[in-house]
Amino acid sequence: MSDVISQDIDRVLITEEAIEARCRELAAQIEADYDEKHITPFIVGLLKGSVPFMAELIKYFRHPIEIDFMSVSSYAGTDSIGDVKINKDTDLSAKGKNVLIVEDIVDTGRTLAEVRKLFYNKGAEDVKIVSLLDKPDRRIVDIQADYVGFSVPNEFVVGYGLDYNQLYRNLPYIGVLKSEIYE
Ligand code: IMP
Repeated sequence: MSDVISQDIDRVLITEEAIEARCRELAAQIEADYDEKHITPFIVGLLKGSVPFMAELIKYFRHPIEIDFMSVSSYAGTDSIGDVKINKDTDLSAKGKNVLIVEDIVDTGRTLAEVRKLFYNKGAEDVKIVSLLDKPDRRIVDIQADYVGFSVPNEFVVGYGLDYNQLYRNLPYIGVLKSEIYE
């Protein structure tokens, strides 16, 4: 950990090697589930946190997939689409498709619950979720990702797409920030 941004990291929780190995396993499992039903998944990454994970994951698929990206943020003050605002919608239509949402972490579960609802409202045939991380202790909405890379304790983690104030997304591992960075 001699690079500059790693100096802000208290400890590494999940190494790059472990993430890569888990992505291989997840891709094989997901692909087997979809192939069984002869389905081409429509894989949608939620910007920006899912980007490194999605890039790693899709390398290991050996059958055709479609990919797209969507950007959402919390939205207070409307009940028309629930609690999220769409900043960037998918370019391709989700109608009739088997959507696989790619997320960096399931924390309270609010984002995914809303995004899943959005896809069903757009006419998706089926909506599944793969998340690199799961923080089950923080859950408020009862939602479970269909595929999870790793379960993490109730600590603020960064790296592999996850940020603190938009920084640290480029760390190639998952780590816990030094407390002095927040304070
Ligand atoms: P949820 O709607 O509470 O599940 O929020 C999920 C989003 O919160 C994720 O996509 C992350 O952007 C962010 N988030 C939650 N926990 C962490 C964390 O430990 N580090 C970085 N971002 C986090």
